Amino acid sequence: MKQSDVPQCIELWKTTGMRIAAFEREKKECLAMLKMNYTSCFVAISDKKIIGSVFGTFNGRRGWIYHLAVHNNWQKKGIGLLLMEKTEQALAKQKVTKIILAVHISNLKVIPFYEKLGYVIMPDALLFEKGLSGNK
Ligand SMILES: CC(C)(COP(=O)(O)OP(=O)(O)OC[C@H]1O[C@@H](n2cnc3c(N)ncnc32)[C@H](O)[C@@H]1OP(=O)(O)O)[C@@H](O)C(=O)NCCC(=O)NCCS
Repeated sequence: MKQSDVPQCIELWKTTGMRIAAFEREKKECLAMLKMNYTSCFVAISDKKIIGSVFGTFNGRRGWIYHLAVHNNWQKKGIGLLLMEKTEQALAKQKVTKIILAVHISNLKVIPFYEKLGYVIMPDALLFEKGLSGNK
């Protein structure tokens, strides 16, 4: 993924129904994520158009995957699988030992996809969040 791909990725995410932030915030955060993880974030391209995306990130402790998406017209053709494989290989090169990803409660239909790739629902963890009020 290149920095200039990010606006087109945001348009892609909108069409897949993914939950994303407002454009400017999404762009800023994704550019920052890409800068820190440029070897493990990928796009899938067809006819010069972005049809898939994934951010593989490493925070020194764990790998986290964000914004995996494949354009609706291109789903179920193995592109999601390919993006995940590339990301895992890139994170493995950085000696990441475990990858974590979150699935929104409204999107449980993707569970079989991740299970097919060997991901398991963590039996002993919940995600917590806290907004930092100065940084909206
Ligand atoms: C989830 C997503 C990325 C999968 O991408 P994809 O390109 O359609 O997946 P693939 O074609 O590589 O599928 C790989 C395998 O998973 C299966 N699979 C994919 N989506 C599935 C689903 N919703 N339910 C059951 N199995 C599914 C495929 O059938 C395939 O199995 P097979 O090899 O036995 O045929 C895609 O559906 C998507 O972009 N969804 C909208 C955005 C989203 O929800 N992203 C995930 C955020 S957590």
